[in-house]
Amino acid sequence: MTTNSEINTADLRKALGTFATGVTVVTTLDKDKNQIGVTVNSFSSVSLEPPIVLWSLKKTSPNVEAFDHSGRFVINVLARAQVNLSQRFASSIKNKFNSVGFREGLGGLPLIENCVASFQCKTYRRIEAGDHILYLGEVEEYSRTDQETLIFCKGKYMCGQEIETV
Ligand SMILES: Cc1cc2nc3c(=O)[nH]c(=O)nc-3n(C[C@H](O)[C@H](O)[C@H](O)COP(=O)(O)O)c2cc1C
Repeated sequence: MTTNSEINTADLRKALGTFATGVTVVTTLDKDKNQIGVTVNSFSSVSLEPPIVLWSLKKTSPNVEAFDHSGRFVINVLARAQVNLSQRFASSIKNKFNSVGFREGLGGLPLIENCVASFQCKTYRRIEAGDHILYLGEVEEYSRTDQETLIFCKGKYMCGQEIETV
């Protein structure tokens, strides 16, 4: 594949970052049943019938093997009050789950406590695309609460404010 030399990667990243997203921690278990979690904002809904969602993981992530091996993942949508979890799971510290409250869901995968929503998925398809791997998952169970959703835009954490419409 050729690269357009006109495109400046750092600037493209800034342009893409203007698109506001929520923040999730995607969790799974590795082959030794250790809990794995990565902060992810590439989450997106794809299909309602059947229910399919999508997220992407950079190919160089040390967690690729775990997500491939388990064939399952949980999307934990973070609440405004969980910025600390976003930072924790975006870091490369060992045992990210120390002092993090969670319960076991389908397949024993970690469901993080006090999230806005969670989607328990079985990997439906894995697609390599450039420097990332797309994981499409079929939602087997989900839950939601009325908490405020954490938002990420232009490299900053934000909270949403409703705009009244007529
Ligand atoms: C708000 C936010 C969103 C992120 N979204 C993604 C993503 O969609 N895909 C990805 O591979 N990394 C994403 N990252 C980076 C990973 O969280 C980070 O590289 C990873 O958790 C580092 O931990 P590791 O060494 O265990 O892989 C994001 C980071 C932040 C702060």
